[in-house]
Amino acid sequence: MNGVVVIGEGELDEAPMLYIGEELGTGMGPKVDIAVDPLEGTSIVAKGHNNAMAVIAVADKGTLLHAPDMYMEKIAAGKVSLLDPIEETIDIVAEANNKRVQDLTVIIHERDRHDELIERIRAKGSRVKLFGDGDVGAAIATALPHTGIDLFVGIGGAPEGVISAAALKALGGDMQARLVPYTKAEEERCIEMGLQDPRQLLKLCDLVSGNDAIFAATGVSSGELLDGVRFLGGDLIETHSIVMRSKTKTVPYITAHHHLEHKPHLVML
Ligand code: FBP
Repeated sequence: MNGVVVIGEGELDEAPMLYIGEELGTGMGPKVDIAVDPLEGTSIVAKGHNNAMAVIAVADKGTLLHAPDMYMEKIAAGKVSLLDPIEETIDIVAEANNKRVQDLTVIIHERDRHDELIERIRAKGSRVKLFGDGDVGAAIATALPHTGIDLFVGIGGAPEGVISAAALKALGGDMQARLVPYTKAEEERCIEMGLQDPRQLLKLCDLVSGNDAIFAATGVSSGELLDGVRFLGGDLIETHSIVMRSKTKTVPYITAHHHLEHKPHLVML
């Protein structure tokens, strides 16, 4: 491939690898955008909690929103609009999922900025599931019926928003978003990206505009989506991954055994 990192570990001067603009691949073959978060859930791992993953999205060049490192308001579920009041959204999702409002589960990042939203969802009668970190997994859960999650709402990282959108596209889910620039500099950054109105509504097709996005994730610590890395003794390590492609909608789950002797870079994780 002829790939360029469009969402990565930061700018060249702050990240030795996977920095924005880094070219990856042989330089031949398809031209692609790469969005990567090698550790989605840094604090999760530091605290020994669940649901940390390594995630990557790859799509045709120019089709992933080059989201800057700022906050983004997000909603993931089918048939909903970020512009509707949450109470109305809950009614729409309940009808779409053929559930009673009180049986609906809404997943939200446990942050003070969501206190009012959480209160309103509880007042409406739906269930609230709070998570500490890792909103890519939370957004993806809305498109996997076995998780029991019906709706994801809240403000999190914009880069994670674009990566989630690639996964949802591959799973047939849906998502809308709006950047949340807090400073003048962030606002200017949005305008530089080509967004005339920094707060414009971004639909799934604005976050990932092509039809051939690939999303892959490998569990770091075990979670609802994937098991974590297991050290099986000796130099044997087991990993659990998914690779999804929006064009085919196939979702293979891959369990792999690695021998450290042949992959010494794995210890860097
Ligand atoms: P990191 O992997 O960079 O630690 O991000 C974890 C995360 O929970 C993201 O999933 C989320 O988008 C972001 O942090 C939210 O940021 P904040 O911790 O400032 O609320």
